Amino acid sequence: MRTIEKISDLKAIIKSQKVSGKSIGFVPTMGYLHEGHLSLVKHAADENDFVVMSIFVNPTQFGPNEDLDKYPRNLDGDMQLAEQAGVDVIFLPKVSEMYPEGYKTYISVEKITERLCGKSRPGHFRGVATVVCKLFNIVEPDKAYFGEKDAQQVVVIKQMVRDLNMGLEIVPCPIVREADGLALSSRNTYLTKGQRNSALVLSTSLFHARDMIKNGERRVNAILDYLKKNISSEEAANIDYIEIVDADTLEPLNVVEKRVLIALAVKFGTTRLIDNVIVEV
Ligand code: PAJ
Repeated sequence: MRTIEKISDLKAIIKSQKVSGKSIGFVPTMGYLHEGHLSLVKHAADENDFVVMSIFVNPTQFGPNEDLDKYPRNLDGDMQLAEQAGVDVIFLPKVSEMYPEGYKTYISVEKITERLCGKSRPGHFRGVATVVCKLFNIVEPDKAYFGEKDAQQVVVIKQMVRDLNMGLEIVPCPIVREADGLALSSRNTYLTKGQRNSALVLSTSLFHARDMIKNGERRVNAILDYLKKNISSEEAANIDYIEIVDADTLEPLNVVEKRVLIALAVKFGTTRLIDNVIVEV
């Protein structure tokens, strides 16, 4: 596995791979890798000749009061995991490499970025779309791999790719969970033991909500009532949002139909966790 810090060096490697006809799979991350990230690498390695992973804690997607400065990092561990999982090149740009002095261009995907996580994290998806667009221009992947853990991120990136005629395929990959159901997240490391136990209420409630639909419930309000009640019964849980929306458009729904996304963000202490399930009827 090669480690690259400069955009020009990565572009040269990509060029030589393309000249020899190799397909390129890309996995963008912010590091502190876990099995969720590595599952994306496995998909990428299965479907492409050459796998690029980026690790870049992107400052433009963090709000002023968010955890940019304390975002967990473990570069040595990440490099080992990435290599074992089948990454060919790991791209580790400095902030000044991605956003040199005088940087002025941002990508703003409208409407769908104002809801769910966008409501409580204004500017977040502008930063995500901008850095992902830049990374796509640098890596020129045939396919890029994103986790459904960040369901709104997948919808936003797909919209950007469609709107800006980017010639690559976005491949959404399923959420990887701990054995007890907690969705893997780099931010889980912030949780105390007690908060970690309380956080289990997220996946158990989402799975129960999915069962309600499987058993015939179609009233969005009835499902939301259950979720709100069950999650707030956990004292440590502070609900940011719980919503049931069309999984493709993120439009709010009154009645469950087609493919719905049940998505939530809940704080435990200062740690904000997100989780979701997608249910098809
Ligand atoms: P990060 O939070 O590091 O996540 C990188 C990728 O891993 C995302 O596509 C995310 O959805 C996926 N992922 C995280 N936890 C997962 C889990 N438990 N199961 C499956 N996939 C999981 O998302 C970002 O970074 C950034 O916003 C980024 C796209 C890199 C832009 O900066």
